[in-house]
Amino acid sequence: MDRLEIAPLPDGAAALRGGVEVARLTGRLGDDGWGRHAWIDWTLAEGEDAGVLRHLYAAAARPWVAEGHRAHYVEVPAARDDLLAVWFDLSFGKQQVYASRAIGPDHSSDPRVRRGGPDDLETAVALGRVIWDHQRDAPVWSGLPERSVEELRAQWEEALADPELAGYFVFEDAGDALGHLTLWRDDEETVELVAATREDVRGRGVATALLETASAWAHEQGYRTCVLDWRSTNLLSSRFWPRRGFTPTRFRLHRLVRVPGS
Ligand SMILES: CC(C)(COP(=O)(O)OP(=O)(O)OC[C@H]1O[C@@H](n2cnc3c(N)ncnc32)[C@H](O)[C@@H]1OP(=O)(O)O)[C@@H](O)C(=O)NCCC(=O)NCCS
Repeated sequence: MDRLEIAPLPDGAAALRGGVEVARLTGRLGDDGWGRHAWIDWTLAEGEDAGVLRHLYAAAARPWVAEGHRAHYVEVPAARDDLLAVWFDLSFGKQQVYASRAIGPDHSSDPRVRRGGPDDLETAVALGRVIWDHQRDAPVWSGLPERSVEELRAQWEEALADPELAGYFVFEDAGDALGHLTLWRDDEETVELVAATREDVRGRGVATALLETASAWAHEQGYRTCVLDWRSTNLLSSRFWPRRGFTPTRFRLHRLVRVPGS
């Protein structure tokens, strides 16, 4: 096998064997809610040793860290243990789980769940804060600031009128909204799901009923795949969704580099 050469690129580095590129790793730098960061993109030729990426990371990330971009993020296919091992050895840890499940014809609607819309703005605002609040607490510590009612209202006003919103579902008990679920249209056959149940009524089947009803509706509409993602530190999601048949497809990994004085 030809010797590996590492060639610098303006935004990263490439690996060459016999003059042929076999891997590439680049960073998109930014400074926002993700910290002063680098989102890492990478390619690896089929059959090439995944360990090559470690050398590319070393070469590419040196200037990022020197410029203060110390929060690094990368996505890796869930089924590639060899790639996960490479990033874990580089001190990256799991942060986000992306998962999917097929939508079959075997789901049943629950009468306590109804489809909602723009008239449900106040319900959506009240339930919309559940995820934010849950994720600001241990052991997620999302680092994201508390959402004000005004921010949530503006966000949900837009969301409930958005043509990409495939469906909005509310679980009600004696007129009380206990949980909600949104389906976003990804493409003709895929929807993306977000759901939340009020803290005081969890573990009573609210989200299961929402998921069943929304899945039955989505199947009728021609959707065949449902995707969603959650923080791996979100203990409720990490238990709930896999037990409902959602299988991880990829993970987002994260590393915060410490330099002297930081
Ligand atoms: C994840 C979440 C939506 C689940 O909602 P939920 O309404 O509590 O879910 P359910 O009650 O349907 O199911 C939760 C558990 O209670 C069990 N359960 C349901 N009905 C039950 C009943 N009548 N008696 C006993 N247990 C019951 C379920 O089997 C499930 O347990 P399992 O996961 O071990 O199978 C909720 O925990 C939540 O809102 N979390 C915070 C926000 C969040 O993380 N949202 C997801 C982001 S995508």
